[in-house]
Amino acid sequence: MLFSAGILCPTAASADTVTLMMDRIDPDAVIMPEIYGQFAEHLGACIYGGLWVGPDSPIPNTQGYRNDVLQALRDLKVPVMRWPGGCFADEYHWRDGIGPVKDRPTQVNNNWGGTVEDNSFGTHEFFNLCELLGCEPYLSGNVGSGSVEELAQWVEYITAADGPMARLRKENGREKPWKLKYLGVGNESWGCGGNFTPEYYSDVYRRYQTYCRDFSGNKLYKIASGASDYDYDWTDIVMKKAHSHMDGISLHYYTVTGWSGSKGSATKFTPDDYYWTLGKCLEIEPVIEKHDSIMDKYDAKKRVGLLVDEWGTWWDVEPGTNPGHLYQQNTMRDAMVAALSLNVFQRHTDRVRMTNIAQVANVLQSMVLTRGDSMVLTPTYYVFKMYIPHQGATPVPVSVKTSRMDVRDGRSVDMLQATASRKDGKITLSLTNVGLDNDIDVEIPLGNSAKVKDMTGSIITAGSVNDYNDFGQPEKVTLKPFKGAKASKGNITLKLPAKSIVTLTFEI
Ligand code: AHR
Repeated sequence: MLFSAGILCPTAASADTVTLMMDRIDPDAVIMPEIYGQFAEHLGACIYGGLWVGPDSPIPNTQGYRNDVLQALRDLKVPVMRWPGGCFADEYHWRDGIGPVKDRPTQVNNNWGGTVEDNSFGTHEFFNLCELLGCEPYLSGNVGSGSVEELAQWVEYITAADGPMARLRKENGREKPWKLKYLGVGNESWGCGGNFTPEYYSDVYRRYQTYCRDFSGNKLYKIASGASDYDYDWTDIVMKKAHSHMDGISLHYYTVTGWSGSKGSATKFTPDDYYWTLGKCLEIEPVIEKHDSIMDKYDAKKRVGLLVDEWGTWWDVEPGTNPGHLYQQNTMRDAMVAALSLNVFQRHTDRVRMTNIAQVANVLQSMVLTRGDSMVLTPTYYVFKMYIPHQGATPVPVSVKTSRMDVRDGRSVDMLQATASRKDGKITLSLTNVGLDNDIDVEIPLGNSAKVKDMTGSIITAGSVNDYNDFGQPEKVTLKPFKGAKASKGNITLKLPAKSIVTLTFEI
């Protein structure tokens, strides 16, 4: 069938179908909960005002963490949180963020608007937050402007039961070591993290990781700083020279129109812009596949994980806000990007072991926005909430028959998208109708003898794909029950509304 730009080409007059390929399930495969990871950088109001207001704030808080955000993140079952950057990580000196707060030095946050950082949120504040959330900490270590000794001693400070660093930690009020699994050795080392060549970085990586030790029963999972989107050379060289010294290598991929000039408004966009966004977002799949195939050259058994530790949409900042603080609104379009990206990650569990959306609060594609003592949950938040049953589940391969649309820049987008998983005898199936105008009749054939039990559903949709949730008004984009799916004669059928994401959970 021929397609021309912007023309919708239906494949058939009948319903679109989603087939669960139960015979293709790999029982050893798992959707690592870490695929639902978050990222918190010292950038704009992510930490200060977003997660942390300090214990003396009039904003209701628990030991300095705002109660509303804490509860929202607990409800999301956050599995892992990356900190303190981002670009900030390679200018962060951990000793500035320990000890009595009044004695901590300040620093200029050179990457992000020149804001003065007072270091009141440091190692203890971060690790205590992870304990409160019940999530794994993921530390991003300073390679660009730090030293091997500094990073090695940070690991010792956090994880050792005895010795000089443990003594210092205890003096600062924490007796027991924390557990630290995920350790990143630099961030974007090809750019803000030091402008290294991949050859030089590989040697530096090998040296740094040597001195980051496993103390007191702690076991580090060491992550090399990886490529940005299409930089396959970086992956090739770093893997070739250092793969045996790493557990993972990162990848950053943003859904962004470009790196210079305007990136477009987060809320004011045309249908053409919307479909372009989906095409760009879905391109993460061939990008992952290419990095994976390069990794296969050195690691055919896929021991080394590919960690997409920064991803999401990047728009112009909201008018009137500091351009260095990356504060953007979040619409139903962002919800679509979240769902389609998570679907892609769930198709690549053999290599993709963690991802961290950028970022958790008030920066880029956030989960929550805060203003004073108010908090708004974004459409993206609701996708993460809707997808919780996929965390830790076994992926169920799906085959989708649907129509395809050509979009700007030579990309194309399938109108119906799907992902499925199985856990504790239950199937969770998430379906997305990306089309703005037409509902889709969907048929899910399960075999004549199949008996569907205990089906429940939820939906995220909006009057307009430009809709967003804002302060002081009822939520426009939220998670609601969905009762439109019917099971009979070995089939589930439903009408999937335009621009909607639906998740069904059932037993067969
Ligand atoms: O997430 C914002 C920034 O994007 C990070 O600090 C950096 O790693 C990336 O370029």
